Amino acid sequence: DQDDTLQSRSPVVTIMGHVDHGKTSLLDAIREASVVSGEAGGITQHIGAYQVEKNGQKITFLDTPGHEAFTAMRARGAQATDIAILVVAADDSVMPQTIESISHAKAAGVPIIVAINKVDKPAADAQKVRTQLLQHEVFVESMGGEVLDVEVSAKTGAGLDKLLEAILLQSEILDLKANPDRTAEGVVIEAQLDKGRGPVATILVQTGTLKTGDIIVAGNVYGKVRALVNDQGKMVPEAAPSMPVEVLGLSGTPSAGDRFAVVETEARAREISEYRQRV
Ligand code: GTP
Ligand code: NA
Ligand code: MG
Repeated sequence: DQDDTLQSRSPVVTIMGHVDHGKTSLLDAIREASVVSGEAGGITQHIGAYQVEKNGQKITFLDTPGHEAFTAMRARGAQATDIAILVVAADDSVMPQTIESISHAKAAGVPIIVAINKVDKPAADAQKVRTQLLQHEVFVESMGGEVLDVEVSAKTGAGLDKLLEAILLQSEILDLKANPDRTAEGVVIEAQLDKGRGPVATILVQTGTLKTGDIIVAGNVYGKVRALVNDQGKMVPEAAPSMPVEVLGLSGTPSAGDRFAVVETEARAREISEYRQRV
């Protein structure tokens, strides 16, 4: 039975919204609040995605500029996100990129959670945000709809716990599952050429478990996984579904949104990547 092999996996979240509404601040605030005390002096590595733990459950945040990453990935047919956090500054309300973000999320069929940010500001008007969202068919709970909304401040940290709880609640509704006991597949979040380490790709495992020594094809590059590095900068032997990791050992840098998969042999990997370079 197919279902026997499926296990719960943690949600993958992207933050979207209008310029300066606080996407980066919110990602930073969530990460800081969740850093385990004493851990490497609170220094976390930037790998383009990170995981936090809330009530014993993990949440994966994609740390790339939400809008662009989402669009780039969707253009390649990749869907990395389970839940979109729509950040709306309470002192600025709904703006053009708010509306664009709503369309992107809706087109992708990804549920939205509204984070009404900057509620610490004197000019904040959370109710105005909720009312304006109605015009774009985002119906929050207090307006009779089903979209979760949370008032937050990336500056003071207010509401961040509630936001994480809302993500876990939404995730429960989605009933996210994957089979960890198969060869891994997933998507490239970002990649760059590192001076010391060579090509480094941050990837998100979507199904299966990726292991050191696996041979993968990612877009039109390939390689034997030399090392996997987690969001704390630590080497890990493997990466389970919904876990972001850096992959070392690739022949080049794949693009954001490229898919990756484990293949049997290096010869086969080279063949596939060479074919893809031609087309
Ligand atoms: P772009 O990536 O440029 O689109 O911006 P962003 O959405 O990432 O916004 P960013 O986090 O850079 O925040 C924009 C400005 O708003 C910065 O000056 C932040 O310090 C400020 N800001 C963000 N969140 C809050 C908040 O909750 N309260 C207050 N008072 N200021 C905030
Ligand atoms: Na900004
Ligand atoms: Mg930003």
